Amino acid sequence: MRYPEELIEEVRMKNDIVDVVGSYVKIQKKGSSYFGLCPFHSEKSPSFSVSGSKQIYYCFGCGAGGNVISFIMNYENYNFQEAVKFLADRAGIKLPEIEYSQEAQKKAQRKTRLLEVNLEAAKYYFYQLRQPNGKIGHDYLTGRELTEDTIKNFGLGFANITSNDLSLYLKSKGFEDDLIIEAGLATFDEKRGLQDKFWNRVMFPIQDINHRVIGFGGRVMSDAKPKYLNSPETPIFDKSRNLFGLNFARTSRKNHFILCEGYMDVIAMHQAGFTEAVASLGTAFTSGQASLLHRYTDNVYLAYDSDGAGTSAALRAIGILRDVGMTGKVINLKPYKDPDEFIKGLGAEEFQKRIDEAENSFFFEIRILEGNFNLKDPDDRTKFIREIAAKLCTFEDEIERDNYTAAIAAKYTISQDSLKKQVAINAAKGTTDYKPLDRPKSLINPKKDPDENGKKVQRILLTWLSEEPRIYKQIKEFISPDDFVDDVYKEVATKLFKDLDEGKLNPAAIVSCFEDEEQQRTVAAIFNTKLEDIDGLKEKEKALHDIVLAVKKSANEALNAKPDPTVEEIMKALEDKKALQKLSSITFHLE
Ligand code: CTP
Ligand code: MN
Repeated sequence: MRYPEELIEEVRMKNDIVDVVGSYVKIQKKGSSYFGLCPFHSEKSPSFSVSGSKQIYYCFGCGAGGNVISFIMNYENYNFQEAVKFLADRAGIKLPEIEYSQEAQKKAQRKTRLLEVNLEAAKYYFYQLRQPNGKIGHDYLTGRELTEDTIKNFGLGFANITSNDLSLYLKSKGFEDDLIIEAGLATFDEKRGLQDKFWNRVMFPIQDINHRVIGFGGRVMSDAKPKYLNSPETPIFDKSRNLFGLNFARTSRKNHFILCEGYMDVIAMHQAGFTEAVASLGTAFTSGQASLLHRYTDNVYLAYDSDGAGTSAALRAIGILRDVGMTGKVINLKPYKDPDEFIKGLGAEEFQKRIDEAENSFFFEIRILEGNFNLKDPDDRTKFIREIAAKLCTFEDEIERDNYTAAIAAKYTISQDSLKKQVAINAAKGTTDYKPLDRPKSLINPKKDPDENGKKVQRILLTWLSEEPRIYKQIKEFISPDDFVDDVYKEVATKLFKDLDEGKLNPAAIVSCFEDEEQQRTVAAIFNTKLEDIDGLKEKEKALHDIVLAVKKSANEALNAKPDPTVEEIMKALEDKKALQKLSSITFHLE
């Protein structure tokens, strides 16, 4: 079920985009718009714009854009309904309860209760860390060089040595036994009643991307085993679809994530300023987690332990990342075991260097492969080179293959010619099932669209109309929504022309007609494509004339290129021709 359109529009209008965006991003007025650093990609000079008059935001760098609802969807990672709900709350608008089936309602209520009991437990642990009994936990964390701010930021806590005090506390707060058990916070014992799952451990609350506590990890403060205990999977805790630290990392504004193995690694990295660090939840990295990361970026740096187990885990993670279309790079942590120890040993600056020098995953694979051979032995060396050649010949792009061949040849002092030859032989045989890793894809430049030029003039015209509605009178004789071939463009033009006919103008409401994020970006782009500033009325009139002509021409060409035009299309082609003739002999008057 959806909220009625008028209500969505009311919610949108009562949340001024400049206010809302301004509470997340530092923006400054420049001309008729506000500008700031884009929260959706990493940049040094501001290309993120917010228009108060259009109620639209748009980034000229990465193409992110939409209205205030899209902004909240993207920034908070909410779906459409959640974003509307969030903004309604912000503006004090009451939304009707959406009707769910009884079963769905019960499930939703149960989830809410599970979140509530987890939050209460997290608060309890947090409080205990600061009690005399919890001093040992606090000492442990500070002994690991965590600051008070870090402890607070991650909500770290302490589970007492007594085995039922959390349960007693939660019961006193009105939480039922079965809820406490289902949350994995306690188990039931015939003789002793509820028994806390975690005791005598420092506690790491695990949060989802919206900072809700969905589970816990608890670490012993000695070398006892098991080192960590984790909450079991529950209706709110899916270990394969959440990542520790992602609630902070997703707004780190870096163009990548750092994936590591441990909770302590994430915390140490965030403390050192690497707030883009995340970790899986006591289980191996999954494709669900890869997809989750892929929502934000294409690039992941792996900071896995430098031992054998870490290396195999990294190789597996690279494969998983590749399968969802992401690129992995590997950070060398030697001589340290993990990021936490590295940062303690060498500091943040050195760690940043290691990020900058992170190894391309192809080189990483070759280097690991190298470990299987004794390169001083001629036979082994031959085998090694053959295997490299087999991997190299899977690069389909010739330039890329040559570049990698040259680089590998130089690295392993192999003759470039003979390596090339071997690659060619392999390629001719077509013998390999090795799949190369995807090459880095740019986050910013979407696929090239062959119609891009035609679309650009259409966007310029639509932006112009949205900024100077008075030109509509001039152009409406020549341009109709049917001149816009792309579906989204046509729909935008239809709505904009209808609004202008009624003497209205509401670009942000037009964005709301599209729920798909990609389409919202397109609409934002349509309303943010300007010609450079034109001086002089005559020049402006001429520019408008040229643009209308270009839009009409490209529409007409598209129509003529159709193999089986309908009768309507033939008629339109004739009309277009007349319009083009007329256009060629008139000038526009803007005053
Ligand atoms: N882990 C777990 N259960 C264990 C051991 C490890 O769930 N018995 C998970 C935890 O999520 C842990 C991660 O695997 O964070 C990595 O393990 P490890 O490197 O041993 O732990 P660290 O986070 O590095 O912790 P510490 O530095 O305190 O040893
Ligand atoms: Mn560690």
